[in-house]
Amino acid sequence: MESLVCICGAGTMGRGIALAAASQGISVILYDLDPETIHSATSAIKKELELLTGKKQTPAEEKENILRRITFTSLISDCRAPLIIEAILEKTEAKSALFLELARINNDETLFVTNTSSLSVTRIAGQTPFPERIAGLHFFNPANRMKLVEIIRTKYISEYVLQRIIAFAGQLGKTAVVCRDAPGFIVNHVARPFYLEALRLAETGTADRTTIDKLMESAGFKMGPFHLMDLIGNDINYTVSCSLYEALGRPDRLKPSALQEAMVQRGELGKKTGSGFFQYTKPVSE
Ligand SMILES: NC(=O)c1ccc[n+]([C@@H]2O[C@H](COP(=O)([O-])OP(=O)(O)OC[C@H]3O[C@@H](n4cnc5c(N)ncnc54)[C@H](O)[C@@H]3O)[C@@H](O)[C@H]2O)c1
Repeated sequence: MESLVCICGAGTMGRGIALAAASQGISVILYDLDPETIHSATSAIKKELELLTGKKQTPAEEKENILRRITFTSLISDCRAPLIIEAILEKTEAKSALFLELARINNDETLFVTNTSSLSVTRIAGQTPFPERIAGLHFFNPANRMKLVEIIRTKYISEYVLQRIIAFAGQLGKTAVVCRDAPGFIVNHVARPFYLEALRLAETGTADRTTIDKLMESAGFKMGPFHLMDLIGNDINYTVSCSLYEALGRPDRLKPSALQEAMVQRGELGKKTGSGFFQYTKPVSE
């Protein structure tokens, strides 16, 4: 059982993972190199806890305990823990470099987990001298609410590490599926046409984004593709499309969308920036 974890990156995913762990009694070090992000993560976690206690999904008396378990920091020197989870930007080199830096201030037993959506965990691990201690643990957004996690097993991982990550997912109350390292793992592979075909319908003027979302929601999907892309972040969603497209040999059917690329360039990232396929009010505290 884990009693302390460090989460690197306090953006959309890192803050949700921190809340998931702290809610299960685990102490959390939540680190981001950007002090502003640490500030907004603190407000966002408090706000989510208010919401959960309001809905009686978290007992009111637990709120302060959960918050107390999280240490917010913008100092990498604070990142010492037996299990480190990274949720930083979606770039192989950045992720491996962070693991190498963290290995210098941790010990030979520390396990490293990447929350990558689409990058090769084998490549990230292969760029370090300790690949057997690295696994993929892919959470879904919002990470404190979504039950599913994908555990990605590379050719290097030791059985002990794999079992510890499976046990950690259980400790978080998640439903874990283990899969081999492959482009997009399971969910992002299966779901890619959901986004790309919707984008193509909008680009060709077949139907507008509101109509497409309404139709998909009426058909039983919890969220239409455009609202979901805004929730994920258009930058993340577009990067995932690009990495799958490249990894699978650039098939036409998986060509990333020019419309979404232009939105990313304009900073229309979705909920997190207040503007995406739809408009959102940004919380004052953030
Ligand atoms: N957004 C999603 O729905 C989703 C779902 C599953 C997995 N993921 C993956 O999780 C990771 C993070 O995604 P996100 O949506 O939270 O992104 P985000 O842009 O919201 O947050 C990333 C954070 O990482 C910080 N950061 C960047 N480099 C850093 C470094 N070297 N050290 C410490 N902090 C650093 C940034 O300041 C930023 O706050 C990505 O790999 C993404 O593919 C995202």
